[in-house]
Amino acid sequence: MDAALPSRDQISIAVIGLGYVGLPLAATFGRRFKTLGFDINAKRVAELRQHHDHTLEVSEQELREARDLSFANDPEELKGCNVFIITVPTPIDEYKRPDLRPLESASRTVGRAIAKGGVAIYESTVYPGATEEICVPIIERESGLTFNRDFYAGYSPERINPGDKQHRLETIMKVTSGSTPEAADFIDDLYRQIITAGTHKASCIRVAEAAKVIENTQRDVNIALINELALIFHRLGIDTHEVLEAAGTKWNFLPFRPGLVGGHCIGVDPYYLTHKAQQIGYHPDVILAGRRINDGMGSHVARRTAKLMAQRNLQTTQSNILILGLAFKENCPDVRNTRVVDIVAELRSYNANVHIHDPWVNADEARHEYGLEMIGQPEQGKYDAIILAVSHREFIALGAEGIRAFGKPDAVLFDVKRALPRQSVDDCL
Ligand SMILES: NC(=O)c1ccc[n+]([C@@H]2O[C@H](COP(=O)([O-])OP(=O)(O)OC[C@H]3O[C@@H](n4cnc5c(N)ncnc54)[C@H](O)[C@@H]3O)[C@@H](O)[C@H]2O)c1
Repeated sequence: MDAALPSRDQISIAVIGLGYVGLPLAATFGRRFKTLGFDINAKRVAELRQHHDHTLEVSEQELREARDLSFANDPEELKGCNVFIITVPTPIDEYKRPDLRPLESASRTVGRAIAKGGVAIYESTVYPGATEEICVPIIERESGLTFNRDFYAGYSPERINPGDKQHRLETIMKVTSGSTPEAADFIDDLYRQIITAGTHKASCIRVAEAAKVIENTQRDVNIALINELALIFHRLGIDTHEVLEAAGTKWNFLPFRPGLVGGHCIGVDPYYLTHKAQQIGYHPDVILAGRRINDGMGSHVARRTAKLMAQRNLQTTQSNILILGLAFKENCPDVRNTRVVDIVAELRSYNANVHIHDPWVNADEARHEYGLEMIGQPEQGKYDAIILAVSHREFIALGAEGIRAFGKPDAVLFDVKRALPRQSVDDCL
């Protein structure tokens, strides 16, 4: 006989991986269900026990309000939980292939803790098939239990947007799925307890996995098209934003903007899909072309800045160049897969002295992740060129004049995000 799923009052949730996705989820479930937040990072667990979240996604008050939430670093404490939600990273390796090691390791952890009737729900972004082909067999092996008889699985992708205080976990409709009709109902009902925007129950796990990965792939390809248009219009001497403004007056023209595509989602997830496509013998031309264009935008910005400097008789070699912003997007401390590093690398290849200033980013993290030293407050009148790479509110508050004050009188100002008035900068995407 198949093992019974936990009844509502028996539910004991473990959230595995307390990052941008896992912590808000644990804090929200921790208001209604007994919830254990588990992370292999002991420092993170210690900080959360003090109600401090360095990612700034969950406030101290929200952590205090999650009365049934506790934290653990020792996997032994997971025993007794019966719903395991896995929210660990799914990065790519240096060859841009999915790096499934965190997911595999978290599945081993779950396999050692899960008992009959347990449910493993994956939230990490993967390719269609990964949950049932990679994760479930690991849980079976570690637990000695049989899938869909002793334990069940599900996939419910996360859609949160770091730094976005408007679109929150509870207010974004959530896709759910389960490995049997009963498991699907159980999982859908579980999320309905916390998601006020409602849920969409997909027909199976692979559909839910595919839905998540195409959400970000669609965005990536759309931005790539606009980036390609920006490259063309630059050569034609046409202002891309003016073109987009004009075209945007048509009801079905989509409002994408050119820019760097960073972060651990949009610039990474498409590779999960292309990996799976190639595995089954299909070469995805459009998706990979989009990735190539988006990945080239950082060095493009650097080359354009260098050209403008040359046109003003400013040597790039030994010049001082200020980059404002390192985070992958505005008003957020997240530096994962930030493409600002491509601007830095290209400028350094011209032997420029590149100084990076970002009031949001932790200097230790920049050093640890990228080997980059950041500066505190930039000096006035020092720079030959300034690149506004990320439009943090502090930079916008300075205005073009305040930003130009960091430069020498004829310094070049490049506005990657088109955040300043066009006439006040020398170039923009
Ligand atoms: N951040 C987002 O905006 C976002 C949105 C939607 C989906 N996602 C997806 O959600 C997943 C998690 O992303 P994130 O941004 O929360 O990552 P993150 O890097 O912020 O956090 C991951 C956490 O997992 C922990 N961890 C790693 N391996 C572990 C293991 N084996 N056991 C326990 N803990 C482990 C890490 O220490 C870290 O605290 C990824 O697949 C990502 O693509 C992220």
